[in-house]
Amino acid sequence: MEINWGQWVMSDTQKASVGTDRMNVVWKEQDIINGHILLAGGSGAGKTFNIRKIVRAMVQSASQSIRVHVFDVHDDIDIEGCSEVFFSESSQFGLNPLKVDPNPHTGGVRKAIQNFISTINKTSRQLGDRQEAVLRALLTDLYAANGFYADRPDTWVLNDGVERKYPKKFPTVEDLYRLSSYKYKAMFVGGNNKTAAKLDKVNKHAIKMQRMAREETNIENNEKFDQLKEDAIHAYTDYVTAIKSGRELDELLKFDSKTTLKSVLDRIDNLKSSGIFRNIEPDFSEYNPVWRYRLKALSSDEKKMFVYFRLKELYDNAIKRGPQENIVEVIVIDEASMFMDQDPDNIISIMANEIRKFGTALVCASQAFTHFSLDFMGSTATKIILGIDELHWEKTSRQLQLDKKWLEWIIPQRTALIQMKRRVGPSDPTAKVKWFATKF
Ligand SMILES: Nc1ncnc2c1ncn2[C@@H]1O[C@H](COP(=O)(O)OP(=O)(O)OP(=O)(O)O)[C@@H](O)[C@H]1O
Ligand SMILES: [Mg+2]
Repeated sequence: MEINWGQWVMSDTQKASVGTDRMNVVWKEQDIINGHILLAGGSGAGKTFNIRKIVRAMVQSASQSIRVHVFDVHDDIDIEGCSEVFFSESSQFGLNPLKVDPNPHTGGVRKAIQNFISTINKTSRQLGDRQEAVLRALLTDLYAANGFYADRPDTWVLNDGVERKYPKKFPTVEDLYRLSSYKYKAMFVGGNNKTAAKLDKVNKHAIKMQRMAREETNIENNEKFDQLKEDAIHAYTDYVTAIKSGRELDELLKFDSKTTLKSVLDRIDNLKSSGIFRNIEPDFSEYNPVWRYRLKALSSDEKKMFVYFRLKELYDNAIKRGPQENIVEVIVIDEASMFMDQDPDNIISIMANEIRKFGTALVCASQAFTHFSLDFMGSTATKIILGIDELHWEKTSRQLQLDKKWLEWIIPQRTALIQMKRRVGPSDPTAKVKWFATKF
């Protein structure tokens, strides 16, 4: 894979040492120590323009099939011929954040719950301690109800060999909402999920009959109503008969107070209606190398959750895929500062550090390097400065050990500074060049 950035603007000494006065600055996959690329540039400096160029060049020059995931928050990374999905409240496609990674070392139910909670906590509305504890208890029950147990790695797969009436599936946010609302209702009338579900059906049917009576349409026969009542009474009878320890009702106490449970229920309802959590996977074309996730219609909290959950999936898949010789997957994040923070467990930082071996490269763009953690910058072999605001000069110059005069030298959309950490022999006359002054 190769990307030709443009012409190298050489000093006289550089011209003499390479023996020519014209040379292009070319990024070569086989030389670079990792595929990660960071672009920094002020508004209009050409970040999106260069992202398009990178994606095009990578796809055209790849020696084997690759997949590029483009997270497009502004809806301006149009790449001809790509496969794209627009995500919004009314889109039928979404993600399931409650999938369990079956890896016995890195995955499991506890990690899935932790990932769900910590991602919600990265939004502008964090959960309180009590809400978090309640959500954890709800999720543990939800996973158990679906056949996933925290302390049994053999249950973390869909195909666990257990005979079931319905095939085993990962629970969804919709399921979480349903279970939580049953728990909430059970707090008022006692009982368990089953009694609450049956009682719910009786009440829903009663409402339906009332509406029919009001509208004077045919009143549905009462037989069904009687049957539903009968079912509910049976469920309660079973529940009462099954009481052994007398602590069954206390079970509900782990959900704290009604108020806390209600606040968690409201939060789950919000997540459910945000439109990013759906059971239907986005219908990207398997044969198209570029997948564009159009996220503009989502709120900034929704964008964050979407990107974090999807990155986590891509990370798990990469680990599953195992070590790779070449870059097989590229993840492009424009406006990456939206998703960066100082959390060492931030999925982007984790990926930057760990994912190279598994053939994934990250391409991130932002207004300045100061948005990225030092650790993250250190793990990125290619850095491109497209002209950054004076405001960031001081810090950038210090961080990158780069004379400020070079930052001043850049003309947005025309010149840039490019660093590429490469594995080239000492005889290569460009081996010692730290920053290539480049003319597009
Ligand atoms: N190297 C270049 N050659 C020609 N045109 C360029 C170049 N770089 C950028 N442009 C043009 O400049 C304009 C702004 O570029 P772009 O949208 O990529 O900026 P940006 O850094 O993504 O800005 P923003 O932060 O606002 O998203 C676009 O019309 C783009 O086509
Ligand atoms: Mg842009």
